[in-house]
Amino acid sequence: MKALRIHAWGEAPRLDEVEAPQPGPGEALVEVAAASLSHFDLTVASGEFGISPELPYVPGVEGAGTVVESDVLAPGTRVSIRGRGVGIATPGTWAELVVVSHDVLTEIPDGLDLDLAAVAYDPLTTAHVSLHGVGRLGTWPDTGVDAVGDEVVLVTGAAGGVGSMVVQLALRAGARVIALVSSDERTALVPKGAEVVSMQDPARASELAASPVATLVVDTVGGARLAERLAWVRPGGRFAVVGYTAGTSATLDLPNWLLGDVAVLPVNLLRRAGEGNAVVDELTALLVAGELAVTFETFAMSEVEGALRRLVAGQVRGKAVLHPSA
Ligand SMILES: NC(=O)c1ccc[n+]([C@@H]2O[C@H](COP(=O)([O-])OP(=O)(O)OC[C@H]3O[C@@H](n4cnc5c(N)ncnc54)[C@H](OP(=O)(O)O)[C@@H]3O)[C@@H](O)[C@H]2O)c1
Repeated sequence: MKALRIHAWGEAPRLDEVEAPQPGPGEALVEVAAASLSHFDLTVASGEFGISPELPYVPGVEGAGTVVESDVLAPGTRVSIRGRGVGIATPGTWAELVVVSHDVLTEIPDGLDLDLAAVAYDPLTTAHVSLHGVGRLGTWPDTGVDAVGDEVVLVTGAAGGVGSMVVQLALRAGARVIALVSSDERTALVPKGAEVVSMQDPARASELAASPVATLVVDTVGGARLAERLAWVRPGGRFAVVGYTAGTSATLDLPNWLLGDVAVLPVNLLRRAGEGNAVVDELTALLVAGELAVTFETFAMSEVEGALRRLVAGQVRGKAVLHPSA
């Protein structure tokens, strides 16, 4: 079978022909129809994450497909795959076939296609946990928030996978939403209903700092300019850090941060997986009903290098989906 494998840290994956895996007791063989290409896969493949697989390894922490062999699930059952070290401790989904333990499989509900099943979990759960578990939407008296209607949620990377879901869930909850994008051309990708601000409009961008209105920032981009964005939050408000697409480090100017009195809160979906799992069925039902949307682009195995370059550069329209059998 064909599999993409990382042979050296920080290098692009190679398309290899490898032996098809065989399931053991308690395991299932799944034909992968769609796999997520995510920033987390790249973090693992950098070799700088706290947990590293042995080289060479097959990345892919999420995916969806159909059961080929299992002593629990009937062949042809549609399943999503994620969790318990898939793509890190055990081979991942960037392959035509994968062997996994049954506890990483979830049956896919009718009406949800395999592409969405491969990538929707991450934005749905991350956006929910950022707003509710971490941001405690509607209950932040330190900055005068006693109800969701008092909230002004500012989302960075609002055209991206997680950011666009934060916009949708915050609007559904009843908050005012300001959606930040890096350039004018990304504005069309932001879900309707938010006030969209492009960083190419310097006047509007500097207004955000001059008179901060946000009660909560959900920041998916990170990087060196994170400290500047703290000034967009009202004193006593909070700033939830989700990701680092624009860079993995930031420096705080402590006197000004203390003056702004903004709580910087980490969003850790590995530790808070239970919170995401508790709501994912309800959120997936909204996706199936067309009340929420996850945008994605698809790529064949042979296109993976270009796809990953575009992912790193922030050029993918929504989530990136790999089709291992294409
Ligand atoms: N903490 C957690 O538990 C957790 C869970 C899920 C995801 N994450 C992280 O959250 C982040 C966002 O994930 P995602 O799936 O939403 O990613 P994404 O859609 O690829 O990117 C989100 C946004 O980041 C901006 N961006 C991307 N590359 C950039 C670059 N090179 N320079 C500047 N801006 C860039 C883009 O904003 P514009 O559209 O405005 O250009 C893009 O829309 C990732 O770092 C991911 O690892 C963390």
